[in-house]
Amino acid sequence: VLAAGRDLAGLSMIVTAGGTREPIDPVRYIGNHSSGKMGFAIASAAARRGAAVTLVSTVPYLADEPGVDVVEVDTAGEMARAVWGRAAESDVVVMAAAVADFRPVNPADHKIKRSRDGIPTVEFEATEDVLAGVVAMEERPIVVGFAAEAGDLEDAERKAKDKGVDLLVANDIARPGSGFGSDTNEVTVIDADGSSESWELMPKDEVADKLLDRIRDLNA
Ligand code: CTP
Repeated sequence: VLAAGRDLAGLSMIVTAGGTREPIDPVRYIGNHSSGKMGFAIASAAARRGAAVTLVSTVPYLADEPGVDVVEVDTAGEMARAVWGRAAESDVVVMAAAVADFRPVNPADHKIKRSRDGIPTVEFEATEDVLAGVVAMEERPIVVGFAAEAGDLEDAERKAKDKGVDLLVANDIARPGSGFGSDTNEVTVIDADGSSESWELMPKDEVADKLLDRIRDLNA
């Protein structure tokens, strides 16, 4: 009876969640609207189904699900170190986080003062590509990427190929019920061959379970 529904027992999984925050100075950052809800739903569902989950998150995970080990990070660099340091021992990496693509070069070590410093010019540099680093590993885990698109499925299909992921979950953030912070999501899942499957709008918990079914089948 206890084993029922624990179809992911023995699987070790890293799930990232939330948006990274890249400092401008000690009090300000460049961030994004990611709530972490999709990553949390995947982490919770995977743990309920028996997986050992490491959740690398920029937002506090309040669910306290047994089987979810939380690593809190802020920046893309910290997320990269947390994921890369654990990926070799993991079967699956799910990159649900909205990782910044660029960050301020040399953040100020003091609060930039309007009265003294005036209006600053912020220069940017590229961040680590967390997903690409995992895909490039010699013996790599199954990699699931996410892509926030604005209505362009072809773009997502090309992305799935270019990024070399096993699955790419594309969601159209412009659609009602699919934006940041929502409890529902309408996604298209693209596999490594480029075949895609569009799922109807459903709660993020259900998206998580359907996605985990796909991951389980890939791992079989
Ligand atoms: N990602 C990552 N590291 C980054 C940026 C993104 O690991 N520095 C991951 C995200 O977690 C997500 C996927 O890559 O799984 C999202 O890619 P996306 O931002 O859509 O791709 P880009 O190549 O940045 O595409 P675009 O040109 O549309 O910005």
